[in-house]
Amino acid sequence: MRDEPCIRPPQLDAILADAARAEFAMSCEDRTGCLLATLAASKPGGRFLELGTGVGAGAAWLAAGMDPTAHLATVERDQAVQSIARRHLGDDPRITFVTADADAWLTEQETPGRFDFAYVDCRPGKYLRLPDLLALLKPGALYVVDDMLPQATWPKDHQLRVDGFLEQLPEVPNWRATPMRWASGLVVAARI
Ligand SMILES: C[S@@+](CC[C@H](N)C(=O)[O-])C[C@H]1O[C@@H](n2cnc3c(N)ncnc32)[C@H](O)[C@@H]1O
Repeated sequence: MRDEPCIRPPQLDAILADAARAEFAMSCEDRTGCLLATLAASKPGGRFLELGTGVGAGAAWLAAGMDPTAHLATVERDQAVQSIARRHLGDDPRITFVTADADAWLTEQETPGRFDFAYVDCRPGKYLRLPDLLALLKPGALYVVDDMLPQATWPKDHQLRVDGFLEQLPEVPNWRATPMRWASGLVVAARI
């Protein structure tokens, strides 16, 4: 069995080429992206959230799965990095790019239960402020994180953070989480 993606977003190769030129090495891998696209396709008209746009690889995969009425808000604090994503995906009216720190962005949110899907790819919403992120999700919404297995880009103390996150999974109220030793190491959870 080959677990390579069956589809590939049209913008992905150009995004990854720009990422290499910018020496940005934190884009999601293709298997993770393909799963994002599949899960996105399960939410027609869905409201999607990504924290940590990076250069837009994950957003391209999500957009490849989203239907024409779905919407993605993607938040990134590094304007230069996000400008690559904007260049490649900025014409897609289903995507709103927000340049902000995700921690501050979480503080500003006033409407609970409005997202159908969250792909959380930075510390706020994952290692920090998980309850605040979960409050933004509707019942039945999906929550995805990757990079649960050791990555070359991790700082020294990061394993402890990941261990703490994984250990608490059974205790998090109102969700069902599945840790997956696949691709870069995922957790897929549903809000209940
Ligand atoms: C792993 S990369 C994102 C990759 C992207 N989601 C993908 O799948 O291709 C993490 C990104 O989060 C951004 N980031 C880190 N801390 C952040 C914060 N507090 N708020 C917003 N963005 C943050 C980094 O600048 C980096 O671009």
